[in-house]
Amino acid sequence: MRRKLAAGNWKMNGTTASLSEIEKLLETHPDPACEMLICPPATLIAQMAWRCRNKHLKIGGQDCHWAASGAHTGDISAAMLADAGASHVILGHSERRTDHGETDAMVLEKTRAAWAAGLIAVVCVGETERQRDLGTTLPVVGGQLDTSLPEGCTAANTVVAYEPVWAIGTGRTPTLDEIAEVHRFMRATLVERFGDEGAGIALLYGGSVKPSNAAEIFAVADVDGALVGGASLKAADFGAIVDALAAA
Ligand code: PGA
Repeated sequence: MRRKLAAGNWKMNGTTASLSEIEKLLETHPDPACEMLICPPATLIAQMAWRCRNKHLKIGGQDCHWAASGAHTGDISAAMLADAGASHVILGHSERRTDHGETDAMVLEKTRAAWAAGLIAVVCVGETERQRDLGTTLPVVGGQLDTSLPEGCTAANTVVAYEPVWAIGTGRTPTLDEIAEVHRFMRATLVERFGDEGAGIALLYGGSVKPSNAAEIFAVADVDGALVGGASLKAADFGAIVDALAAA
């Protein structure tokens, strides 16, 4: 059985006032039938992880540096995230790739760093609108998987999120058939490279997931959960997505 994971990416949103959303989520979902993860801004990780200790809500980072420590002003190492109480870290999100010029090679090094610190890497891939229009979605995603994922990926240390860049924050989503096609392809690619471990790696869909479309997306084969941006900021919306996944 693959893990089912509802992951929230708060991006650059949230202050201590937002801790109330975590309180609400813990209250409404004390023991959900799927895993729940929230990746808040770095400033909130320690407080949220402390609040969630011994609870069924995991806390993660949104990025980490590939080095363990050193002269990297403004960066955070995987060990620091782990020390703050994080269990996961999102890597290679398209906003990091666009805003910070992150390449597949960097994502690969960051993934290794995450594992070394005992974190689960949530590695993001996905095509741009132009790449989809050109019909190159599968080669693009396949290339990202090949060069972003190091040897040694297992079901325990890695989650892969398919996030079409054009679907992030736009309210637009691929059709269910399009999601199925990419997830089927990702599964085959991971199995070919990592064998049984590849068969067990959880595959998330991300990009404009909301309570109203979550159930139909979770019914797609090889969709094991979601990486949710905007709709993860409110406990009621994220909780509804968790419910849809738990029921899938
Ligand atoms: P969205 O973001 O749900 O707001 O589209 C998803 C993401 O970027 O992870």
